[in-house]
Amino acid sequence: MLDLQSQISNIEAEVSAQVTGIKSDEDLKLARAKYVGKKGVVTGLMKFLGQLDASERPEAGKKINTLKSSIIRLLDEAEGALKSQFIAKALKEKVDITLPGRQVAPPGRPHPVTQVMREIEEVFTSLGFSIYEGSEIETDYYNFEALNVPKDHPARDMQDTFYISSKEEGRNKKEEELLLRTHTSPVQIHVMKKFKPPIRMIFPGAVYRKDADITHSPMFHQVEGLMVGDNIRMSDLKGVLITFVHRIFGEGVGVRFRPSFFPFTEPSAEIDIECVICHGKKQVNGSPCRVCKQTGWMEILGCGMVDPNVFEAVGYDPKKVSGFAFGMGVERITMLKFGVSDIRLFFENDLRFLKQF
Ligand code: DAH
Repeated sequence: MLDLQSQISNIEAEVSAQVTGIKSDEDLKLARAKYVGKKGVVTGLMKFLGQLDASERPEAGKKINTLKSSIIRLLDEAEGALKSQFIAKALKEKVDITLPGRQVAPPGRPHPVTQVMREIEEVFTSLGFSIYEGSEIETDYYNFEALNVPKDHPARDMQDTFYISSKEEGRNKKEEELLLRTHTSPVQIHVMKKFKPPIRMIFPGAVYRKDADITHSPMFHQVEGLMVGDNIRMSDLKGVLITFVHRIFGEGVGVRFRPSFFPFTEPSAEIDIECVICHGKKQVNGSPCRVCKQTGWMEILGCGMVDPNVFEAVGYDPKKVSGFAFGMGVERITMLKFGVSDIRLFFENDLRFLKQF
């Protein structure tokens, strides 16, 4: 028993001396294994119990357990001290606040054309229209024929339309002639073939034409609209489109409907708004307004009552249903809204331009 007591005292003294030398997590791990690990000193002492009288064992076991707890406490204290040292050191490290900061990329934002596209979509969805997207590759039938665009119409010319394949080339004998849609109007045909009236939808998307100057781009965006049902009249068209113009350009802006022609609508009209630059005065600071070419008006969209030939092409009875359609160029509306004079600025990705929106 005495023997055990002196061993315990020796071990206690040894551990007390050792913990002061613990300088790292590694030291700590080694000390734990050496004293309280599975093959450690305390486990060794437990084996010693077997050699004692049964009457002495409980007392001896208690002592060994007390030793184990005090070793663990000492090692835990050493661990706590290590952690505080680490934190104190980290806090002492100086931050050089004179170092230049890292360049943070400026936040992105939607392209101006996307912004206006979303605004247009919001106006029409608030009026109960839903959004439907067609495909940018179309057949001659959907892009022209079903829309009552005659075979000899100038838009069908190779000069104006990007054809992808042609029956005449012989590659595609059984298939239809493919092209990049020149307007979003063909989506009307798809939708009317797919759904029965009533229809109240808009069709946003990219369109393509062989055209390039300061007001024309080979790719641009349109929003087409279609409303078909019982007894839809020109007055419905006017109500919807005047509301649209006022929401986009402001309540006070003057609007006029001018008779026009489109093969897919009859009657057809174009909508003009008062020039956003000269406000209809035809002059700016005494000189002629160049934006509206001194007319005081700017054209913003085409529209009309759906032509009976178009209804027949999709299998609707023109005696039973009526409807209106309209189409607008999104770049054009964006240019008029913000006074941008060259459409190419939208596609050059010059941040000095884009950051202004
Ligand atoms: N598709 C015509 C264009 O690209 C725009 C248009 C005009 C669409 C009148 C229509 C409409 O639906 O009724 O110029």
